[in-house]
Amino acid sequence: MKAKQLRPFIIGNWKMHGTQRALRRLDTLAAGLAKQNNKANNAKPRKVDIMICPPATLLLSMAGQLKAAQDAGQQIMLGGQDCHAEASGAHTGDISAPQLRDAGAKASLIGHSERRTDYNETNKQVQAKAAAAHAAGLMAIICIGETLKERRAKATLPVIGKQLRESVPQDKPKDNRLITAKNTVIAYEPVWAIGTGLTPTGEQIAAVHAHIRKALIRRFGAEGERIRILYGGSVKPSNAAQLLAIPHVNGALVGGASLQAGEFLKIIAAAREIG
Ligand code: 13P
Repeated sequence: MKAKQLRPFIIGNWKMHGTQRALRRLDTLAAGLAKQNNKANNAKPRKVDIMICPPATLLLSMAGQLKAAQDAGQQIMLGGQDCHAEASGAHTGDISAPQLRDAGAKASLIGHSERRTDYNETNKQVQAKAAAAHAAGLMAIICIGETLKERRAKATLPVIGKQLRESVPQDKPKDNRLITAKNTVIAYEPVWAIGTGLTPTGEQIAAVHAHIRKALIRRFGAEGERIRILYGGSVKPSNAAQLLAIPHVNGALVGGASLQAGEFLKIIAAAREIG
């Protein structure tokens, strides 16, 4: 199966890091992107979609900042890190998809392994959250990935297949609610590669991404060819080019390295070089 060239998507997940001071990072990022764009202008730069998912407390201020960056020509999207499955209600401490959207988010991470581990989120809950994101007009970035134990037991592909099947919402043509490449992104993040400095081999990543691609095509037809599949887990400037060149790797979900504008910019620069 030949891999279709899709626009790379680089997402920074800040997790529970940063207070207002961290917003300065965005100015450095916007300035760095302007430089990359100017440099690349002659060479027809590869367009890259860029998103930051900050802690919820920073969403609103960041939305204002990103609007200013956008007016200056730098497009950086904003995303949440999680949303509740309901649009509103008595759920102390939770944030709904319409609230994320109201704060300026275009997307939300859903089912990140840290949520699955810390809050025992099941595939079913993840699916309901993704459907809520879609209903609010947000893109759902649905995260899946095996543990080290599952990898060692050679269960990676079945585990990934089941997570994908059960976490991605069903097409609902009657409600005009379809899964599309615009509203859905899959992020493959092996749990054991997150924050550890470890990454699977290129062949291991290629096998999982091809497996996900096949499953998406089987379920969503031609649209399944266009849904982007990101890799996440210890992505950094030194391995980004190599990881992004793997077939069916259409971008990266970056944790630690997104907390430093310089590092994140290098990963974006690597994505521009692919293809
Ligand atoms: P690291 O890049 O810090 O390994 O985190 C990956 C991740 O969990 C992004 O969502």
